[in-house]
Amino acid sequence: KKVGVLISGSGTNLQALIDATQDPTQHIGAEIVLVISNKSGVEGLKRAERAGIATKVIKHTEFPSRESFDKEMNKELIKAGVEIVCLAGFMRILSADFVKYWKGALINIHPSLLPSFKGANAHKDVLKFGARISGCTVHFVEVDIDSGAIIEQASVPVLPNDTEETLQERVKTAEHKTFPKALKHLATERIQLKADGTLEWKY
Ligand code: GRF
Repeated sequence: KKVGVLISGSGTNLQALIDATQDPTQHIGAEIVLVISNKSGVEGLKRAERAGIATKVIKHTEFPSRESFDKEMNKELIKAGVEIVCLAGFMRILSADFVKYWKGALINIHPSLLPSFKGANAHKDVLKFGARISGCTVHFVEVDIDSGAIIEQASVPVLPNDTEETLQERVKTAEHKTFPKALKHLATERIQLKADGTLEWKY
């Protein structure tokens, strides 16, 4: 399956997806054909370039609306023959039309055990709440943010004296294993999003 990855930053999850998909022993069943970033000059773009993957910078600031920005991204994804879209640290909310177009083929990684700690400040919220376990979730994207059927999760402990940075680092290590695993489920058609929004395991 041809995969497009949307990023906004450092792209360590992108790197994990690149490494897994380029390793023939892992049988992910997916090839990354395009990386789109809404920011120029970010490390993630360099990671894609080093791996010989086509990149595109589409700056949201240059578009009059969320819809027109999403339309431009969609045009590029379709042009590249993309079949699955992965959000890997993409820090923009997608319009309903975009989400509907890619329904069942659009997945995101979130740095908490959903449905706990939705939103952009998961680590901060986990620490504030005093949870002793956190982790990451790969899920299908729905219009409603950080909802959508869960594909894979992994847990990590929250340690005494953790800061947002130390917790983020531990969670990211888990993310880098979990995202390729989830992508493999989808690319090899082991899972499917049903019309009612729940996940079906095929085998
Ligand atoms: C990850 O923690 C991901 O869960 C969140 O944004 C971060 C992206 O990190 N959505 P990176 O760019 O993959 O290093």
